[in-house]
Amino acid sequence: MFVFFIQYTSFFAAVSSSVIVFDTYTATPITLEELKQHDKRNTTFWCTSQLYPCNPYEGRRVDGSCNNLRYPTRGMSHTPQYRLLSPVFDKDFEPRRSKSGNSLPLPRFLRKHLLLEGYISDRKFTQLTSHILLLMSGDVLSFHDTVNYVLWKPYCCKPKGKSDRACTPNKIPDDDPVHRFSNIRCMNMTRPESFQSVGCVRQDTYPERIITATPTFDASTIYGNSIRNLFEKGRKFEGGLLKYEVEGGKIWPPSVKTAASVCFLNQKPHETRCHDAPEDGANSVAGVNLAVIWFWRLHNRVVTELARINPCWDDDRLFYIGRDIVIAIQMQIVMYELLPALLGKQNMVSDGVISSNLGFRDLYNENLIPQISVEYPSVLRWFHTIQSGSMKMYDAQGYFLKQIPIANLTLRTGYFAVDNNIDYMTQGSFRQASARFDYAVDPELGESGLGPHQRALDILTNDLSKNRYFGFQPYVKYLEFCLGRSFMKFEDLEYVMDPERIEMLEEIYENLEDVDLQAGLWIEKFVKGGHVPVTVYCIMVEQMLRTVSSDRHWYERPNRPNAFTLQQLLEIRKISIARVLCDVGDSVTHIQRRAFLRIGPSNPLCGCNEIEGIDFWAWEDSTCSNDGSHNGPDFKQKNQ
Ligand SMILES: *[C@@H]1O[C@H](CO)[C@@H](O)[C@H](O)[C@H]1NC(C)=O
Ligand SMILES: *[C@@H]1O[C@H](CO)[C@@H](O)[C@H](O)[C@H]1NC(C)=O
Ligand SMILES: *[C@@H]1O[C@H](CO)[C@@H](O)[C@H](O)[C@H]1NC(C)=O
Repeated sequence: MFVFFIQYTSFFAAVSSSVIVFDTYTATPITLEELKQHDKRNTTFWCTSQLYPCNPYEGRRVDGSCNNLRYPTRGMSHTPQYRLLSPVFDKDFEPRRSKSGNSLPLPRFLRKHLLLEGYISDRKFTQLTSHILLLMSGDVLSFHDTVNYVLWKPYCCKPKGKSDRACTPNKIPDDDPVHRFSNIRCMNMTRPESFQSVGCVRQDTYPERIITATPTFDASTIYGNSIRNLFEKGRKFEGGLLKYEVEGGKIWPPSVKTAASVCFLNQKPHETRCHDAPEDGANSVAGVNLAVIWFWRLHNRVVTELARINPCWDDDRLFYIGRDIVIAIQMQIVMYELLPALLGKQNMVSDGVISSNLGFRDLYNENLIPQISVEYPSVLRWFHTIQSGSMKMYDAQGYFLKQIPIANLTLRTGYFAVDNNIDYMTQGSFRQASARFDYAVDPELGESGLGPHQRALDILTNDLSKNRYFGFQPYVKYLEFCLGRSFMKFEDLEYVMDPERIEMLEEIYENLEDVDLQAGLWIEKFVKGGHVPVTVYCIMVEQMLRTVSSDRHWYERPNRPNAFTLQQLLEIRKISIARVLCDVGDSVTHIQRRAFLRIGPSNPLCGCNEIEGIDFWAWEDSTCSNDGSHNGPDFKQKNQ
């Protein structure tokens, strides 16, 4: 097998082996001389993309290269996002000011005024909704902006922070309803990393966010964003499998063997697991960690089925077809089960995001570059308001056992493997209600969002504050973008907001054009037929349409390399999150069919044997002869 690792240090070897090198920001090829300069400045990792020449018939690459054949590096990690609206900043790219020239109200002040805190359960949605939303955002984002203030720059609230431009902590007002009783007046935050801050682009241009994930939905949380990490930490190179370990009779991603681990909250000596997956996301927040374990197992289950049906398939073929199926399963669940429950199925069909027809769908447009908008992950942060701050645990009979603040499980993968906790949390994921969709936030997220990692952290204050560091235009500009009409005065907001909430805005902002995007989202009315605010709907739909039309390897396309047959696509369409949990969830024998929605008379628990799944015989390869040899055409996926 041909294995070629691109070492960040051995560029010359790489260059001579037909690897081409591009600038991550401009997407243009760079010379050997320029590469040496990056090497010298230690900016090669962030500012250059290295790839093999594209082959139009090859399947989806792990590193995202060659998705768009005209711009082969677009689609890779460290490439720019697009913006729905051009940015606005004050001088030196500091946050914009109010129209009058004053500073805008403090983010923490706005958060405490606009969003209530409380623990009300939703009647409709389960906590699984949050877990899968987090998994989906983890696929296209990175965690470095949080790690930055927790680990790399732990001094932003100390005097030293004043002299570090990267530190942008949030001030807590003296009359803060919670912290007037504490001596805490500052919450950590750092400026988002940008092409400018990492040294790829001149400092005198407006900061553009840089992230490590590939911008397409390709299950980066499982397979990573680079072939090198996938080879080192993912593939077993046997039967198409991902590496795994068995502990306590359960299957897990492999655990780090060295003492250095990011699972800082593991309670030694009992809690030892810390998953060594291709991406750090496998050890991040609890919802992602749990979902990564499920999808990791799912990959191995899929390739085991494929190998049984097609004994002549080799490891590569099993691996890449298995991966293609897992990516399709993830997106089928997101597009046809999760998002319709949240955004309204009818809305999504009429806006063309999904089809009501089960067959192929091809919206591909090679003029669109595979990217996410800067706004998209920010509006997803609205879902912090519906996340329950506690992980509730149940046994397989549905009896409540215990609960723990979710934040106490951040960077603590070891907890899953003790006391059958993973069984109880899996049960909890579809039995526990999400927090209510009600203009309120769970106090755990609002006051203690990183649990023991920080004395005080209001996740939502950071969400709003980051809007300003991304240079987002005011809320009304997004409303105008979405609704195609103008909003001149506060009263005009009645179209999208209740009058008492408009009054809240009027009391704290001087001018309608001062209102922050996040502030508007928090108090907006929901889209008709859905459960998310109008502008959240609009920006999510814009993104998903862009994704479906710009991803050449989108699973519903008939004309992509290694495309599904119609019969295979129809099998993929049968999947549900309930079926996935039946297949890979610990001690799941009964579950409700629509597991993002709570158990009730119209969505009762039923046995897993009643829940439809994928028939892998649709992947039967008739060219595998009985003796295990292979006669058919070759499968096209280079190991790169
Ligand atoms: C070079 O950059 C990498 C990636 O950003 C970083 O991990 C490493 O510490 C840097 N090395 C030096 C000598 O600055
Ligand atoms: C969660 O962490 C907090 C510190 O942030 C601690 O006081 C609390 O006891 C922890 N709760 C549990 C159930 O471990
Ligand atoms: C700020 O971050 C440091 C390092 O993570 C932490 O020790 C400190 O408690 C944080 N400050 C607050 C107010 O949470």
